[in-house]
Amino acid sequence: MPMILEVKNLITKFYTLDGVVNAVNGVSFDLEEGELLAIVGESGSGKSVTMMSLLGLIPSPPGKVESGEALFSGLDGQQDLLKLSPQELRNVRGGQIGFVFQDPISTLNPIMTIGEQISETLTRHKGMTREEARGQALQLLAQVGIPDPELRYKSYPFQFSGGMRQRVVIAIAIACTPQMIIADEQTTALDVTVQAQIVELFKRLRELLNVAVIWITHDLGVVAGIADRVLVMYGGRPAEIALVDDLYERPQHPYTVGLLGALPRLDAEESKRLVSIKGTPPDSLIPLQHCPFAWRCQFAFERCWEEIPPLIAVGDQHQTACFYDMEKGEARDG
Ligand SMILES: Nc1ncnc2c1ncn2[C@@H]1O[C@H](COP(=O)(O)OP(=O)(O)OP(=O)(O)O)[C@@H](O)[C@H]1O
Ligand code: SF4
Ligand SMILES: [Mg+2]
Repeated sequence: MPMILEVKNLITKFYTLDGVVNAVNGVSFDLEEGELLAIVGESGSGKSVTMMSLLGLIPSPPGKVESGEALFSGLDGQQDLLKLSPQELRNVRGGQIGFVFQDPISTLNPIMTIGEQISETLTRHKGMTREEARGQALQLLAQVGIPDPELRYKSYPFQFSGGMRQRVVIAIAIACTPQMIIADEQTTALDVTVQAQIVELFKRLRELLNVAVIWITHDLGVVAGIADRVLVMYGGRPAEIALVDDLYERPQHPYTVGLLGALPRLDAEESKRLVSIKGTPPDSLIPLQHCPFAWRCQFAFERCWEEIPPLIAVGDQHQTACFYDMEKGEARDG
């Protein structure tokens, strides 16, 4: 499958009064056309800042994308998103790249009707007339499962439940038939039943639109149900990337093992200690000079405190940023 996105060594910092926050410390990953990549990792691991960097949405100042590449193969051929002008990015965003952010309340405009907000996306990005956009918006409302679209078109966001608002944000994200959608934590604020419905909706839409998706979540149950591949983030870096089944069956990074509560293969005694991840995440005010997980890792050895582990291949489409081979119980070669 051709790649739709190739992110290489992305570094983003925030220059705050307290010091420099090293939010994203060299993130690389790619995304195939039509693929769903889930991104998991604890709070503060740089998931949202990575995506905001790609979309040109980092507040600057204090934020700054320091370096990296984000090659997006959209309708205009391959472009580096990090090099586009604000105007060019606005055109890509919402058009070729749809996004569904953490909090639908802040994404939706409280003083515009739901219908107008969807229509506006269509007139702006697709050049539709108001009438055309209205017709399309009604179809989209139906497609995302909002009953009585004619009536709901005229409603304001506050008249919708959380789950319904989420559906509207999804309708806006898919309005221009994007090649890629970035969804950030979209299910966490919802109750479990609504969350399951939203996940089902997303699955259905994804098949319908054949769109590539980056799905940021804390919910590993959701990941198992919908992802093709998973990127595990830790301390602003990728800790592990693998096909979803491979990650669950054969996690190769101690942090992933902890996250999954999984049993490493060697012996059960050792595994119990891994289930809850003790300790706190690395202080992002201190520049990384060694493995970000070293403080919390039961396998840490000398090298882990001297170098930052790069991603290395450990199987088909499987990479880990760890110097230790948990299966063999010894340091990796090289
Ligand atoms: N506007 C900002 N100013 C300063 N620091 C920021 C800003 N936004 C994010 N950060 C910092 O960047 C780091 C990465 O944050 P990010 O929001 O990407 O985490 P996350 O993985 O999305 O976490 P969560 O799961 O809680 O959403 C954190 O240390 C955070 O405090
Ligand atoms: S590189 Fe070392 S400290 Fe980091 S996760 Fe691997 S074993 Fe643990
Ligand atoms: Mg976030």
